[in-house]
Amino acid sequence: MSKTYKIAVIAGDGTGPEVVAEGTKVLNAAARKYGFKLDYTSFDFGGERYLKTGELLPETIFDDLRKFDAIYLGAIGHPEVKPGVLEKGILLRMRFELDQYINLRPVKLFPGVDCPLKNKKPEDIDFVVVRENTEGLYTGAGGFLRKGTPDEIATQVSVNTRKGAERCIRFAFDLTKKRNKAHKLTLCGKTNVLTYAFDLWERAFYEVGKEYPGIKTDYAHVDAITMWFVKNPEWFDVIVTDNLFGDIITDLGAMIQGGLGIAAGGNINPKGVSMFEPMGGSAPKYKGKNVINPLAAILAAGLMLDNLGEAKGAEAVEKAVMELTATKIKGLAAGSMGYSTTEVGDMAADIVGR
Ligand code: IPM
Ligand code: MN
Repeated sequence: MSKTYKIAVIAGDGTGPEVVAEGTKVLNAAARKYGFKLDYTSFDFGGERYLKTGELLPETIFDDLRKFDAIYLGAIGHPEVKPGVLEKGILLRMRFELDQYINLRPVKLFPGVDCPLKNKKPEDIDFVVVRENTEGLYTGAGGFLRKGTPDEIATQVSVNTRKGAERCIRFAFDLTKKRNKAHKLTLCGKTNVLTYAFDLWERAFYEVGKEYPGIKTDYAHVDAITMWFVKNPEWFDVIVTDNLFGDIITDLGAMIQGGLGIAAGGNINPKGVSMFEPMGGSAPKYKGKNVINPLAAILAAGLMLDNLGEAKGAEAVEKAVMELTATKIKGLAAGSMGYSTTEVGDMAADIVGR
């Protein structure tokens, strides 16, 4: 009996449905080739639904979603919805409620992809950022005092629990060990200014590190790391950091790997249901034009397979994208690939099934 994985699909807004359709094509090709089954259930969450019904997520949704093996997300974002509503009400809510405490973002320059950094090659840019995904400045702790008056005060508190930092750090050490590259884990923080939050992180980092004698540990301030990403990206293997710093440095990471068109991420709960998404967003102006680049969504599907334990399928998906960037794809921006969205998906599925 072959294994069946239940996948919740949230295609979402804008070009989300188009890229998810291509990712699904590639997933199906991997399933046929490597002998497993995928059973998809679609959910219509996103800006469209919110504008129609006023509802962001039904209250019972988390119990439903916990029954799936993984969630495959396209994009959430709508030009007619005020910024923050969908982000907080859908994306962040899912991460929090499902305790997806890791945001995993590989930064990898694929062959043939135009890199904005001079003289950097695929072997120079290949690292992973492990971003804490449920704490820090994202918890919503804080508030206003005397709002709207000249004496107004706004606080936004960074919440760092020992447990939260430690489980994230432990995940990062395990990943560094498993990756088998430079065996080096870098903590990215700001110990010179955020002397409470990153004191906790730093102590947890070195204490947990004692359990991993084979892993080299290193530390970099967040401001410095943005310089090294540009100047010496080859120094990095795995980086672990808090929620906001991780958010910021992974956008820079996406740029040095060629752009958002090829950047994917996983919101991971190692003991629960994880969610995989392309980083590019909903790109509403390209909706329905069959020009958006589906490679990030295809790579997100690959990350999902890896997380499900289908390592061979995951590897085949990444290799297919590599072959396409090396031999076919001209550019990553919408309309510049030299092929339509569906053609790229077809080619990737063919390579995986070959
Ligand atoms: C990301 C996004 C989100 C974040 C936004 C949309 C809330 O930028 O996944 O990186 O800040 O985490
Ligand atoms: Mn971001």
